[in-house]
Amino acid sequence: MVVPITVTRTGVELAFTSLNSEVEIDNLPVEGEIPHWLHGCLYRNGSAKFDIGRVSYNHWFDGLAMVHRYAFHKGRVAYRNRFLRTSPYIQMMSTGQLSSGFETVQPTSLANRILRMTLDAIGYRTGQTYNTNVSFMHLDGKFLALTEQPVPTIFDPISLETQGAFYFSDRLFGHLSCGHPQYDYQNQEYINYLTCFGPINTYNLYRIKATSDRRELIARIPVRDPCYMHSFALTENFIILVEFPLIIKSMKAILSGKAPMHCLSWEPQRGTNFLVIDKRTGKQVVRFTSKAFFAFHHINAYEQGDEILIDIAASDRPDLMYKSYLNLLRNATRSEDHPLAEYRRYHLPLHKPVHSSDVDYELLSDRKIEMVCINHARCSSRHYRYAYAVSHNRDWPTLVGQLLKIDVHNRNTKGWFDPNTYPGEPIFVAAPNAKDEDDGAILSVVLDAVRQRSFLLVLDASSFKELGRAYLPHHIPLEFHGLFANADPEI
Ligand SMILES: [Fe+2]
Repeated sequence: MVVPITVTRTGVELAFTSLNSEVEIDNLPVEGEIPHWLHGCLYRNGSAKFDIGRVSYNHWFDGLAMVHRYAFHKGRVAYRNRFLRTSPYIQMMSTGQLSSGFETVQPTSLANRILRMTLDAIGYRTGQTYNTNVSFMHLDGKFLALTEQPVPTIFDPISLETQGAFYFSDRLFGHLSCGHPQYDYQNQEYINYLTCFGPINTYNLYRIKATSDRRELIARIPVRDPCYMHSFALTENFIILVEFPLIIKSMKAILSGKAPMHCLSWEPQRGTNFLVIDKRTGKQVVRFTSKAFFAFHHINAYEQGDEILIDIAASDRPDLMYKSYLNLLRNATRSEDHPLAEYRRYHLPLHKPVHSSDVDYELLSDRKIEMVCINHARCSSRHYRYAYAVSHNRDWPTLVGQLLKIDVHNRNTKGWFDPNTYPGEPIFVAAPNAKDEDDGAILSVVLDAVRQRSFLLVLDASSFKELGRAYLPHHIPLEFHGLFANADPEI
């Protein structure tokens, strides 16, 4: 006799419940229609396994990395998902023990901690990999999964099999990396930075061609107290590091053996600094300070007249990080339980003295947002009009309940909302021969709390109307970031 399974988990719980299955499906069932012009692969990365047996990670950011691949070909969608076989994954599956992560720490000796940090910082080929569950980068002909540790993980873009650690061929040094490298479309290269701890702490800014494995130093910026920055801004001529006063207590991290999250100190009295660095010379040209705020994600930045405009998903405090414990998220009932950010535009006047304060901002939307994307290929580091984001819905306030299209010219907003669903980060894909900035599609992986499964949603980016959805056989925990590659989907 088949005993029916009683599903007791709410959608909110399901959004932070482990997905253990790995599947390959040639043709997902589609409701509506997937545009036939959509050709290529969407890759998604995020936390998918939070526990084994009786042990569990405490924090959303520590879940083990799973990569998902949605291949589009003539209106069909094929799907495949795999855990990255990183060192933390292998340890968990073979011993039942958790590895150290952002909020989690396993006891180890001081000598071992220093040795591991140093070897990774100099790019020594230990073969050890990290839980790279944040984002992706296509570099040197390889697909890389990234986190904030300096060693990415290589995976096969078709089979999703893990191929090991990626090492750069240069001698740049750094203990922490940034999970959001910026692609400089003008010069066709990536720009990113490393944070390096030592007698003199530094931010090491670098550029790297997409076809290369060798980084080139742009600037080594000394800093007394390095700050936790998850992303940064790029304009035509400048790199802007926005130093939120979430200070990394580096000596505490090394000596105490505490998890990285517990070595961060929110010190709002310092304000937030904007370090503006000339992209070509590496010289810091100006430094501004504003009232303290925090952000995970920059949206876009560009130069206009004698100003730099920096658009950021900003909050007064880093509450999202501290409210992203799994037990809190699974029991979330109000929008305050999963705080989102404001759409702020900071104005940096370049004609001001080298050290200026009182930088101010305007709000570009009255909605709270996160996981914002734009038409990057056309508008990165340039004037733009449209942004796409997750948001709370007023009638469905728990977690992220809707997708928004925000017109920052007219300050108009369009929304996509379906009751009992939780959408993830939107990704813009331009249509072939696109004329307008919003001529294309928006892709988002959405958790359906009624069907207890996720689906891939396709919206018309212009009208923001749903075109189609393709259901998966399982739920997907709320993910972080993705990448659309125009590669042959080889369905
Ligand atoms: Fe991120």
